[in-house]
Amino acid sequence: MEWLLDLSERYRAQLRSGPFFQSLAQVQRPSDLKWVHQLIHQSREFTSALCLRYSLCKDRNYQGIFAEHAVQEADHPDLLLGWMEKYGFLDGSEPQPASPATVNSLAFCWRSAVRDTCDVQVIGLNLLSEGVALDFYTAVIPVLERLDILSGNYWKVHREVDNVHLTMGLDRCGDVRPESSTGRYYQQVLWHSASLYNAMLSSWVNQPAKTLAVLPAEMLGVPLPAKRKSSPTDPQILT
Ligand SMILES: [Fe+2]
Repeated sequence: MEWLLDLSERYRAQLRSGPFFQSLAQVQRPSDLKWVHQLIHQSREFTSALCLRYSLCKDRNYQGIFAEHAVQEADHPDLLLGWMEKYGFLDGSEPQPASPATVNSLAFCWRSAVRDTCDVQVIGLNLLSEGVALDFYTAVIPVLERLDILSGNYWKVHREVDNVHLTMGLDRCGDVRPESSTGRYYQQVLWHSASLYNAMLSSWVNQPAKTLAVLPAEMLGVPLPAKRKSSPTDPQILT
């Protein structure tokens, strides 16, 4: 579903132009990376959500890939904690508590793992989340390299696998058209998830997040049928 990849990439591009990514050029020392204390919560709980979705999944179409994904992420929080210890981010203490914006983003992931159908989980937890992760690690790794604190497997492994994780399961969702009710719901999930990541990443550098523009599939050159009368159950952002 090329249209979904395109739409996800456009939301990711909006995030990449936001305050978190812009702030990276100004980083001068490891103590400027205070957001690492939020990253560990994201790493722990996103991994938990992936393990949860695998353990709850009864659909054989998705169970195998959900297991594979969960296993590949399972040791990431531990790797990150080791790196934080090594470079003095912890000093023998626990990470700082998760911020409200970090919790909001993670709550979306947990809820998706518990409540969403498998195809919707693929849109939110793979296509969008792993796409944002790919952008995040692609931008952060050169900064760590510049500060001479890039070591261990945590960062390296993301550079290698996020690109694979972001399309994992998309082939199992069938050929969903953007104008179908399922396609419209996928669009809403992309916007909602991207908005939460945008708010979370902006908060990590103490900046307000701009509301993400809704990008209906019409903007990708996909013609949609003539507008029908809206119903109260339609997603507000897409009607
Ligand atoms: Fe991943």
